[in-house]
Amino acid sequence: MKAIGDALRDNSVEGLRESLRACLGRPHDQAWGMPADFYTSPEFLAFEVDELFRKEWMCIGRVEEAAAPGDYWTVDLLGEPLLVVRAEDGELRVLSNVCRHRGMPVANGRGNANHLQCSYHAWTYDLQGRLLRTPFIEGRGDFDRASCALPEIATEVWQGFLFVNLDGQASSLAPRLEGLASLVDNYHIEEMVLGHCATETWETNWKCLTENFMEGYHLSTVHYETLHPITPTRLCEHFPAGEGYFGYYSRFPADLPQRGRYHPDLTDAERGTSVMFAIMPGLVAGVAGHKANFICLQPQSAGRVRGKRGIIFGDPDIGDRERRANVDLFERTMSEDKAQLVNLQRGLNARSFRPGPLGPLDVEGTVWDFYRYMARRLG
Ligand code: FES
Ligand SMILES: [Fe+2]
Repeated sequence: MKAIGDALRDNSVEGLRESLRACLGRPHDQAWGMPADFYTSPEFLAFEVDELFRKEWMCIGRVEEAAAPGDYWTVDLLGEPLLVVRAEDGELRVLSNVCRHRGMPVANGRGNANHLQCSYHAWTYDLQGRLLRTPFIEGRGDFDRASCALPEIATEVWQGFLFVNLDGQASSLAPRLEGLASLVDNYHIEEMVLGHCATETWETNWKCLTENFMEGYHLSTVHYETLHPITPTRLCEHFPAGEGYFGYYSRFPADLPQRGRYHPDLTDAERGTSVMFAIMPGLVAGVAGHKANFICLQPQSAGRVRGKRGIIFGDPDIGDRERRANVDLFERTMSEDKAQLVNLQRGLNARSFRPGPLGPLDVEGTVWDFYRYMARRLG
């Protein structure tokens, strides 16, 4: 077995799987970075998409994005057009957004409707995806309309986050997140409401974005003016990872004033802490007393990732000034991270790069947790 720190470039999927397996036998204090090809190889990305993203629960947003009957929105996930829609029966469903006639995406953008009509030849579906009308081909004996519904995609909701599983075979998510739920239950993420949302593609590997969101090592350098005064690197504290999640506590300085309306269930320690967590493979988030920030991410290629980022607030009546201040801070930190990650990808593409040791458990242990998750799933 090769030593990770000495790994030469090995573009093969098998070579990277071997490097991942090597992580499983090592403690955090012997942790090294993965070879550059982990972050740059198109072959490895294709392997991740087939073996991880299509088989796992992927977060695509929040349930309150379609709160009322008739509300719908659309998203492309790994090349699959999806339609999120709340029907008259109050159920939130995710349907394949591909017309059963000749394949046109049925709905676009977001809105509210009482039925869905394909723009191409006007086939019409109800909000549960059942085919209602097929102009000019009503009477054919070899065509059963009932068998031409829009297929429903498996969904699970965890604390207001909407997850889908494209292959429909994944085991239930909630039991795998019980340990995480016990850490964040008092924040009541399920009661929070989306107050800011933006979607953007960054020129970096999806794992670079995941690691960046999930490690506190860079907080006091990259975010010196923005996050360092609130959640400095020196106050980061790792917590043990679970089967499908990992994370750390981002503690506030003792003299930091309260930052908004906090849920009454929160303990004093929780009021002074952000819980940063990743639900693998597509959600990273951080929850504090008054709000949570999150990114639902999906790879576009080895060097590109699309992120739908947002803020959910605990106070549904939050004032516009306070909301704006939170959005500005979040968006500033996102621009700071984006600038770093685009540059990082350039370095990872360099032939001269050799990975180095990772920082201590509290500040970079989450990167090691991430490698070990990847090793368990893909090694
Ligand atoms: S492709 Fe939708 S009606 Fe023809
Ligand atoms: Fe950051």
